Amino acid sequence: MQEINLTTKIAVYPLEECSEVEKKLIDRAKQATLGSYAPYSNFRVGAAVLLENGEIIAGNNQENAAYPSGLCAERTTVFFAHAAYPDQKIIAIAVAAWSNGTFTSNAITPCGGCRQVLLESENRFQSPMRVLMYGEEGVYVVDSVKQLLPLSFGDEMLKS
Ligand code: THU
Repeated sequence: MQEINLTTKIAVYPLEECSEVEKKLIDRAKQATLGSYAPYSNFRVGAAVLLENGEIIAGNNQENAAYPSGLCAERTTVFFAHAAYPDQKIIAIAVAAWSNGTFTSNAITPCGGCRQVLLESENRFQSPMRVLMYGEEGVYVVDSVKQLLPLSFGDEMLKS
């Protein structure tokens, strides 16, 4: 029997220690929670992506009475960014969530489906995407989506 041990490196930053551009991206994600449509969960998630050209695109979760028809903030934002700017890679994404009158104290971490979509974006442009997961008590940061999705399924599997 063999064992494979996988490790994930996550940096945890106090907001003040993030770079100016990262602070701006996080701020845009926080602002974007205001436009969330979350009448069913009351969990308002905002995301903001930084494109290669320096532009920031923000979005939020959009729920639906038919629950599975709704979409998370990360996917809404990434799909919109790629639809509007198909040639622009995403350098970084920030995510924040508002619940019960406050931003979450723990870092908001993307769901499995969103991780898969973020990974596809990273693979499509062959360039790592930094992920900033905001929490009032600290910002979790990974340099690449791969850190969030070990043993991932990607296009290379289809070719092998
Ligand atoms: N949600 C997101 O938008 N992003 C996440 O990373 C986790 C969950 C949304 C989906 C749903 O609208 C609400 O939060 C509660 O799950």
